[in-house]
Amino acid sequence: MKSKVLFFGFILAASAAHAEQGVSYKSDVYPIIHDYCLNCHEPGGKGYEASGLDMTSYASLMKGTKYGAVIKPGDSFSSVLIQLVEGRAHPAIKMPFELKGGLSSRKIDTLKSWVAQGAKDN
Ligand code: HEC
Repeated sequence: MKSKVLFFGFILAASAAHAEQGVSYKSDVYPIIHDYCLNCHEPGGKGYEASGLDMTSYASLMKGTKYGAVIKPGDSFSSVLIQLVEGRAHPAIKMPFELKGGLSSRKIDTLKSWVAQGAKDN
């Protein structure tokens, strides 16, 4: 059962990588972070307090949590941040935390394509 879920996730990751060309951190990714993540993931927010993940800048995003990176450039399947927005890690810690239904699949695809394309500061 678990391997089936992982395999399905892999298919999604692989197809999304081709779906969007040239995703930009500044014009595509940051607006999603700003609208859906920052209220908890900036200093003082509860996501920041719990995990240490500050998403206010590219540098702090790439630094990750107090335990390490959440983005693996070029590998959206293994990136913890992508696993969480897809609810792949654990349903109880799907991100954005407590947002019913989560991000739209279009927004998830944008994040995935950006990571697949190397998670650049572009
Ligand atoms: C309502 C508050 C809230 C919002 C909004 C939110 N988060 Fe979180 N986030 C949390 C909390 C709380 C934790 C700590 C969860 C835990 O460790 O149990 C966390 C932890 C994380 C982690 C680290 C998990 C780990 O491995 O320790 C990542 C990555 C993350 N969030 C990504 C995001 C992204 C991406 C968004 C926006 C799409 C987002 N979060 C929006 C509250 C939030």
